[in-house]
Amino acid sequence: MAETFDAIVIGGGAAGLMCAIAAGRRGKRVLLVEHANRVGKKILMSGGGRCNFTNTGTTPANYLSGNRHFCKSALARYTPWHFIEMVERHGIAYHEKELGQLFCDESSKQIVKMLLDECAAAGVRIETSCSIERVQPGDGGAALSGNFHVHTTHGAFSAPALVVASGGLSIPAMGATGFGYELARQFGHTVLPTRAGLVPLTLSGKHQERLADLSGVALPVTASCNGASFSNFMLVTHRGISGPSILQVSSYWQPGDELRIDLLPGLDALETLQALQRERPAAELKTVLGELLPKRFAQRLCEVWLTGPLSNRPIKQFNAPQLREIAETLQHWPLVASGTEGYRTAEVTLGGVDTDELSSTTMQSKRVPGLFFIGEVVDVTGWLGGYNFQWAWASGHAAGNAV
Ligand code: FDA
Repeated sequence: MAETFDAIVIGGGAAGLMCAIAAGRRGKRVLLVEHANRVGKKILMSGGGRCNFTNTGTTPANYLSGNRHFCKSALARYTPWHFIEMVERHGIAYHEKELGQLFCDESSKQIVKMLLDECAAAGVRIETSCSIERVQPGDGGAALSGNFHVHTTHGAFSAPALVVASGGLSIPAMGATGFGYELARQFGHTVLPTRAGLVPLTLSGKHQERLADLSGVALPVTASCNGASFSNFMLVTHRGISGPSILQVSSYWQPGDELRIDLLPGLDALETLQALQRERPAAELKTVLGELLPKRFAQRLCEVWLTGPLSNRPIKQFNAPQLREIAETLQHWPLVASGTEGYRTAEVTLGGVDTDELSSTTMQSKRVPGLFFIGEVVDVTGWLGGYNFQWAWASGHAAGNAV
């Protein structure tokens, strides 16, 4: 005989825990099933161990999705301030790092403890190290009550509501699986193609050879791709490029797409070079660029992309068309990415369960009553900076209030 609940939540990450809390607070009997040996592993590793748990500037414009309007309702009804209220109620100290990004002062363990304490107060039952063998829709038979029957290594459970919160494919070493997508397909849902997002880009051939020994060099840039632009640091890595501006733009990049990197963000490169030509005509080009960019990077840029052996020349010796060409390269550095580092290092998975088949107010399936999808498994992906957790909290809260 299966044990019955009002709702079964699959996945004890950010979205699943929030959903369980919201439902439990409403007096619902909730079971949360997690196949790893503990809940919230991604929360623990997030934000360098300090969890960037939300962003005070969250708006729907900070998300990618096949339907850009889908996230609006849930985000409006559970805002960053709702989560901050919970954080403050639990006495967790936090600070804003930059651009509205809130981090714990001490440790992301505090966020997991807070969520577990809230689950306990709401009467949520949590089964960890519990693997799901199969999920069956109800047949109305006498043996099992409820609409969904979940067979696990800890026994059989049933409930009229099933919430899929099993996350995306990023960091398989942390327990990520394609389970949620498979379940969605099992119930007739469309799953939009998935790919790694917020991920370092790789270079190959000449591009990689030219930069590999500069690994570790970081500089502020504006990186653009497919109409999206992000100003922040870029980091040269052994395999390519990373850093916040590149991670952000990687979510908009697809193989073959052109990347545009402005190496002098906020400056007009031509005006800057012309001013230098007037003010310091005898200075070498590579010397003046070495004052605007990290020295080793400026030197390599001159050797390979700008002027080659001419970079030792005084800046006064460059004529107007040459200066224009150099400025153009500085403002639109033509770097060709060959790929991404993939799910192994990606922070998120783009694509997923098609939002057209879900209610934007409750996250409930339009195909199968009682079935819900929340968090990263859904085709809603945030920018870097606390937006993904905010989506997990908001979508979890929406479903938790509807089950
Ligand atoms: P999440 O992946 O958190 O949880 C899914 C859960 O389901 C996991 O516990 C998994 O083990 C479980 N599961 C999977 N298959 C299962 C099955 N078959 N049965 C049972 N359980 C199953 N975002 C942000 O806003 N701020 C930040 O600072 C960071 N930092 C960050 C760092 C790193 C290294 C990564 C990889 C990611 C981030 N993110 C982030 C992104 C953020 O972690 C992510 O968007 C949320 O965790 C998504 O929450 P979910 O609950 O949807 O999935």
